[in-house]
Amino acid sequence: MQRFRRPARMLEWSRQQRCAGDVIAFVPTMGALHQGHLSLVDLAAERADRVVVSIFVNPAQFGPSEDFDLYPRDLEGDLKLLSEREVDAVLIPDTGDLYPAGFTTWVVEEELSDKLEGAARPGHFRGVTTVVTKLLLVVEPDIMILGQKDAQQVAVLKRIIHDLMFPVDVIVGPIIREPDSIALSSRNAYLSGEERKQAVCLHDSLRLARKLLLEGEVDSGVVMDAMRERIESEPSTRVDYIAAVHPDTFETLDTLSDTTLFCLAVFVGDTRLIDNELVELGN
Ligand code: PAF
Repeated sequence: MQRFRRPARMLEWSRQQRCAGDVIAFVPTMGALHQGHLSLVDLAAERADRVVVSIFVNPAQFGPSEDFDLYPRDLEGDLKLLSEREVDAVLIPDTGDLYPAGFTTWVVEEELSDKLEGAARPGHFRGVTTVVTKLLLVVEPDIMILGQKDAQQVAVLKRIIHDLMFPVDVIVGPIIREPDSIALSSRNAYLSGEERKQAVCLHDSLRLARKLLLEGEVDSGVVMDAMRERIESEPSTRVDYIAAVHPDTFETLDTLSDTTLFCLAVFVGDTRLIDNELVELGN
């Protein structure tokens, strides 16, 4: 497994692989890797000849009062996990290489990025779209693998890939859950034991939404109320948002449709968790 810090060296390696006819799959991460990330790495290995993983805690996607400084970092642990999978190259760029001094250029998606996560975290998607654009330019992959856990990020990144005409296919890996149903997330590490128990209400409420829709309930308000009730039955929770949207446009659905993405952000104690459930009737 090769390690690259300098973007130019990464690009040189990628171009060599592509010249040799290899298909490259790319998994962008912020490190603190868990089984969710590793499932994406395995998916990459199934779909491509070469697998590249980036590890970069991107300061540009954290708000001033967010957890950039506290965000879990374990580079040695991450590299060990990756060395046990089919990973060919790891890109670990320095901040100064991705954001040269005095940089003033951003990549901004203007339709999806202001909704839900974007409204709750102003500037977040501008940071994500800017860094992923840079990473795509440096890795030049054929395929990028993203996780469904960050459903809105998937929609925003698919949009910039389409709009900026990157020749990259996006493959989305499923949400990986703990046995108690909590979606794997690097931020789960912040939860106390008691908060951890209460956090199952996120997935409970999403399952409830699926059940209600399958039973024929199409009034979004009724379903949202039922979800909120389940979440608020746990004392340490505070709902940031609950929504039913179209998975591609993130338009809010007042009347639920055959394709509905239920998504939510909930504080459990001080930890903000997100989760979602895609319901596709007929599938
Ligand atoms: O999902 C993440 O970990 C990050 O948002 C990403 C895509 C690596 C960009 O920093």
